[in-house]
Amino acid sequence: MAEPIRVLLLENVHQKAVESLRNQGFEVVHHVTSLEGKDLYDAARNAHIVGIRSKTTLSAEFFAEAKQLWAVGAFCIGTNQVDLAAAAGAGVPVFNAPFSNTRSVAELTIAEIIALHRQLGDRSAEVHRGVWKKTAEGCHEVRTRTVGIVGYGHIGSQVSVLAEAMGMKVIYFDIVDVLPHGNAIRMPSFDALLEQADIVTLHVPETPETMGMVSASALAKMRKGAVLINNARGTVVDVDALAESLRSGHLSGAAIDVFPSEPAGASTAFQSPLQGIPTVILTPHVGGSTLEAQIDIAESVSSRLARFVSLGSTATAVNVPEVALPRLHRAHHRVLHFHRNVPGVLSHLNAAIAELGINIAAQFLQSDQQHSFAILDVNGGDSTLLRDRLAAIPETISVRVIW
Ligand code: NAI
Repeated sequence: MAEPIRVLLLENVHQKAVESLRNQGFEVVHHVTSLEGKDLYDAARNAHIVGIRSKTTLSAEFFAEAKQLWAVGAFCIGTNQVDLAAAAGAGVPVFNAPFSNTRSVAELTIAEIIALHRQLGDRSAEVHRGVWKKTAEGCHEVRTRTVGIVGYGHIGSQVSVLAEAMGMKVIYFDIVDVLPHGNAIRMPSFDALLEQADIVTLHVPETPETMGMVSASALAKMRKGAVLINNARGTVVDVDALAESLRSGHLSGAAIDVFPSEPAGASTAFQSPLQGIPTVILTPHVGGSTLEAQIDIAESVSSRLARFVSLGSTATAVNVPEVALPRLHRAHHRVLHFHRNVPGVLSHLNAAIAELGINIAAQFLQSDQQHSFAILDVNGGDSTLLRDRLAAIPETISVRVIW
């Protein structure tokens, strides 16, 4: 009987992932917490797949210890917690879910555009306190307003589509020449966007260029009465300068979900110069936090892992050469060979195949600077023998056969 495929899931990965991997016939061990050090190594020793979220660190030492490991599923957006180079060096692809919460952030942004234009946060807080301030002062519809999107990537372009559907005019600025959706208009510079937008919404990554991008002078270039939304990264905005601009009445409001320094958890008190200013919505980095996003993460990472196990497909892996593979013909075996990208390995591979009288039905190869991933669909020979011969090639990192 074939050896079962063992999966270790940590950090209370969503139940959908447990179900989906069990439905593949995998043996799943599911821990609610993260593990570290020896506990982690012991738990992962026999695992073919390890699934984590953001709190488990997978170091070079971990990849040296986890000898049976085929793949890692990062059931989250980022992969900073994983030593990606060490994983690649061990022939272990790492899969994550980079777009699972894109729509959640875009929807929050749209909600905030309306909430700021209607001063919803303040009105709600007042009524909770027993204050009945029925006023239209400073309140507006959002249709015909100009929204300026900074960073027209996955989230920015979704905001563009939704905003336009609500009658807003969309302008955007991006350092890359990206295709505009609908009637969105590309601005030649960040300054041009600041000067024309009623709403500036930030959707850039944190880079040396974007850190402090919304400075006191950038805020001064915004229209009087405009609003700022930051659901991207806290360091992009100078929050002291923003507080000053709001208190002076230059900006009429802001919605801020991310901060230069964020508490590690609920037990730590949070402080910001933006607290207590009217028409400012503050949220605790919840832009991507929806149940739909959690379910999407569970489903997309599980299916990427399952495709790697059953087909060898590394498409969307973040650290190894990406190969999208077709279904395996019933009469063939698929040999997955990760090796160091140095001259001569393919000739060793072909020599072994020729010597064993094996027929190659299809061959795929993808490389990056350091690693190559060769896939051979073979028939007419002993694939176990071939696997052992390939494992003996000095440049081999890992070899696996899909029967
Ligand atoms: P993305 O990579 O798809 O798009 C980013 C865009 O910004 C790209 O088109 C890029 O060319 C552009 N860009 C980079 N540097 C720029 C600059 N200096 N000026 C103008 N444009 C620039 O990223 P995605 O998925 O749309 O995410 C955007 C941001 O949202 C990231 O900072 C991410 O960390 C953040 N985020 C926040 C969440 C939350 O919970 N609040 C959840 C998910 C993402």
